[in-house]
Amino acid sequence: MSFLAAHSLFFVLLSTVRWAAGQEGFCSVPPSIVTHSATKPLYWKATNPTLSPDHLQDLPGFTRSVYKRDHAVITPESHVFSPLPNWVNTLGAYLVTPAMGSHFSMFLARMQENSRSGLPPKDVERFVFVIEGSVTFSNGSLIDHKLPVDSYVYLPPNVEHTLESDMAATVVIFERRHASLENYHPEQIIGSTAKQPLLETPGEVFELRKLLPTSAHYDFNIHIMDFQPGEYLNVKEVHYNQHGLLLLEGQGIYRLGDNWYPVQAGDVIWMAPFVPQWYAALGNSRSRYLIYKDVNRDPL
Ligand SMILES: *[C@@H]1O[C@H](CO)[C@@H](O)[C@H](O)[C@H]1NC(C)=O
Repeated sequence: MSFLAAHSLFFVLLSTVRWAAGQEGFCSVPPSIVTHSATKPLYWKATNPTLSPDHLQDLPGFTRSVYKRDHAVITPESHVFSPLPNWVNTLGAYLVTPAMGSHFSMFLARMQENSRSGLPPKDVERFVFVIEGSVTFSNGSLIDHKLPVDSYVYLPPNVEHTLESDMAATVVIFERRHASLENYHPEQIIGSTAKQPLLETPGEVFELRKLLPTSAHYDFNIHIMDFQPGEYLNVKEVHYNQHGLLLLEGQGIYRLGDNWYPVQAGDVIWMAPFVPQWYAALGNSRSRYLIYKDVNRDPL
């Protein structure tokens, strides 16, 4: 304090022009960085990122988002929300769609008071994960399910259902035209990350949970991957699968092809097949991301 005060005073005395330059040179930590996250709800950073759209509004034209042939990073200040077809009181932002080359869609749905979901197109399966608030799931059976933050539901194609909310809630949704196999029929799954067992990850240090069964009934899975600060992927992965990723917590560096991106909770990444990919967790808290991966189908 006294040093800063003296320093400022020195500049004031020297000249107002130099003083202004000196102020600009001071590196002030935005309050959100020092906010203690232990008191906040789970995944709150995903909808309140450290470097939020509010922090970037004074930088005209600046975004961390990029869109390339084989990958995209889509950061919160460039999310564009508009009414979702057939949904009530809900705004959606499509973040990954087949227009990019993916075979799936990924979007955020911001449900408001008295909101209700619409159905996916015919033969399209749906995975819903709650990141803020809670939603009530019903498929017309007698039992409704309240889905709080961290819980999810998988719907096979052509299953009538609704998600409803009477308060603000945010969900991330993946949809894909189901790649059906004769004699294999996926079933509705309801669960939460916290109830999924930790799986073996030979040669790797991250913690892995899978939200869907690994059987051939399912043509994709959703993985939850946790890294402590300083941990990173050992395998510099290049593979046939495609990914849609939402960073739920933490920050780090994502390598995609020859590009190295600083990323934080709330960022979304699309990875096309075979793009070289690698993650290192940095900062001072756990990184957790949710990632779509197509599985169990012959790529031919
Ligand atoms: C509807 O949900 C119930 C659980 O609430 C489940 O037992 C039933 O199988 C579901 N129906 C279909 C068609 O998936």
